[in-house]
Amino acid sequence: MRETKLSPRLSAAAAFVPEGARIADIGTDHGYVPVYLAEKGICRFIAASDINKGPLSSAIRTAKERNAEDKITFLLTDGLTGMEDHNLDTVLIAGMGGETIVSILENAPWTAKDNMTLILQPQTKIPEVSEYLSKIKKPVTDAVLARDAGRLYLIIKAAGSGAYEPTEAEKYAPRALLDKKDSLLPEYLDSLIFRLGRAKAAMAGANIENEKLTEALTGLEAMKEEAAIWHR
Ligand SMILES: C[S@@+](CC[C@H](N)C(=O)[O-])C[C@H]1O[C@@H](n2cnc3c(N)ncnc32)[C@H](O)[C@@H]1O
Repeated sequence: MRETKLSPRLSAAAAFVPEGARIADIGTDHGYVPVYLAEKGICRFIAASDINKGPLSSAIRTAKERNAEDKITFLLTDGLTGMEDHNLDTVLIAGMGGETIVSILENAPWTAKDNMTLILQPQTKIPEVSEYLSKIKKPVTDAVLARDAGRLYLIIKAAGSGAYEPTEAEKYAPRALLDKKDSLLPEYLDSLIFRLGRAKAAMAGANIENEKLTEALTGLEAMKEEAAIWHR
């Protein structure tokens, strides 16, 4: 049987999974990530959860089709509820809004401990996710951009513990992207600058000052200049 092939977005998230991880994929839906990890054989424990029956059934079906159901623990649950006893050291949450991701993590404060690796792919509200990581002192140690069906996605890896104080710009585009010269960064910055510029103009029209937005835009422009040096 051929190995399960992941989309570029999920493949980028799976690539952040540490060898030997005890992992939970929260909001697994189709179950492609846990099945892929089971086939790779790099994890010591794999849980797949979803809050809805339909998606969880779909994940179980995927696992059965791939003869991987014995290697995955399936849970019908909200976020990480009921997972405390599985000694997890890695949590992957992809394809959800940033607010939902933060709320799932807030409801499971044990995910802030220093041996925990968080792999997060927020669809929206990326700065809120960065601020939460800063609050729990879990630094972003890596980040990558993936192009999938014409759209760019940011995947963040946060691990260990320690001060994490991103600038307003880094809350949108983690420093790791610049440090590793992510080839999609210039395009990502352009789209962020366009979007935030539009938001700022709308606010200015309503006479609303938004210092954070202005600071983010200035920082993103500076990042763009830095990226332009190696992106020629
Ligand atoms: C858009 S899908 C993303 C699926 C997959 N993670 C991906 O990235 O392709 C979101 C999934 O999260 C599930 N979900 C939403 N809120 C959840 C929560 N609080 N706990 C667990 N699963 C949740 C939904 O039922 C749905 O299956």
